[in-house]
Amino acid sequence: MERLRGKTLLVGVTGGIAAYKAAELVRLLSRSGAGVQVVMTRAAQQFITPLTLQALSGRPVLTDLFDLGLESEIGHIQAARSAHAVIVAPATANVLAKMAAGIADDYLTTVLLATEAPVIVCPAMNTKMYAHAATQDNLNVLKRRGVIVVEPQTGSLACGEEGPGRLADLSLIVETACQALTPQTLRGKRVVVSAGPTWEPFDPVRFVTNPSSGKMGFALAREASRRGADVHLVTGPTALADPPFVTTYRVTTAREMEHVMKGLAEDAHVVIMAAAVSDYRPEETAPQKLKKKDTDLVIRLVRNPDILAGLGAEKQPGRILVGFAAETEQLLQNASEKLRKKNLDLIVANDLTQPGAGFRCDTNVVKILDRAGGVEELPCLSKEETACRILDRIEALALST
Ligand code: C5P
Repeated sequence: MERLRGKTLLVGVTGGIAAYKAAELVRLLSRSGAGVQVVMTRAAQQFITPLTLQALSGRPVLTDLFDLGLESEIGHIQAARSAHAVIVAPATANVLAKMAAGIADDYLTTVLLATEAPVIVCPAMNTKMYAHAATQDNLNVLKRRGVIVVEPQTGSLACGEEGPGRLADLSLIVETACQALTPQTLRGKRVVVSAGPTWEPFDPVRFVTNPSSGKMGFALAREASRRGADVHLVTGPTALADPPFVTTYRVTTAREMEHVMKGLAEDAHVVIMAAAVSDYRPEETAPQKLKKKDTDLVIRLVRNPDILAGLGAEKQPGRILVGFAAETEQLLQNASEKLRKKNLDLIVANDLTQPGAGFRCDTNVVKILDRAGGVEELPCLSKEETACRILDRIEALALST
């Protein structure tokens, strides 16, 4: 995850049964390219050993304020200062109470008082402890102070009870860290993104489609959300999970996508059509599976609505409309024609014949064309980085309008 690359994250582990999940969290964060410095409370070490977290983070785990060796190597103030973000996962009722009261009686709570970095707490505890007025009051105090709380999930807990108290999904914790490290340049903006292919059925089990994976559109939605936008993602069938903090709408056909997009676009500041919409659909959909015959099967295809052209025709002043053009020939000419015809502000053109570009892969090679005839050529980048560069251009337009 590019957002975390080169960042130093301090992960505080406190003494609840969910401490074992901290191992996977540390692994995920390290694999994303972040430097992870683990701090454990005394109780946490009863649940998982510092050795495990040291092996996964590649750094000595900080446990004792008064360990002369460790303190001379990485002083607690230095640890607090060097962190770009602090994540307490799991956060027990006890550590939340100490944080709310400003108590600093061990390594972690001392660092939490000394740091100026964003602090993310991920409570995990017995459901009654979580619901207790003291814990809820402490969480409210922390939220008022700007601490980011990743609420626990509801489910069956290790103590045998059911209810809220289970540590949030690790993907949600990682995404929260990404968001905390991203300048909130799209706060207050509503961004609508389409993604994926559409399926155009000709019987209940067969359809016309294309190999779009949805990855580019999902990366755009995720990045816009990291920048603070209120993001709505309309996607055709894909294997991808809903991105955290994004409102996702699952559709199947172009006509369904058109209906949802039109409704959402009405009060959107930015609309990005990254979906690979089928231009044609079978004229008829058989109610039953078509039987194999000895003769050939002819399916007549009719035009689907061009969703983007429709949105361009009704474009409100101030709304930014971005399209994609996947081409196999005459890339720039075709793309600039589409930009003009569909009344777009930007079009992202990709040459499907280039290695590392287009459908299914994790990278893309695109050119961004604007209304003034400018062409920005991007190198082969991950779809995540490509999404960042596209959103940079959208932000520049938003500022100038
Ligand atoms: O004309 P072409 O299909 O190449 O244009 C691509 C752009 O138009 C993409 O942004 C795609 O999402 C959008 N599109 C659409 N409805 C269609 C076909 C394409 O909105 N039926």
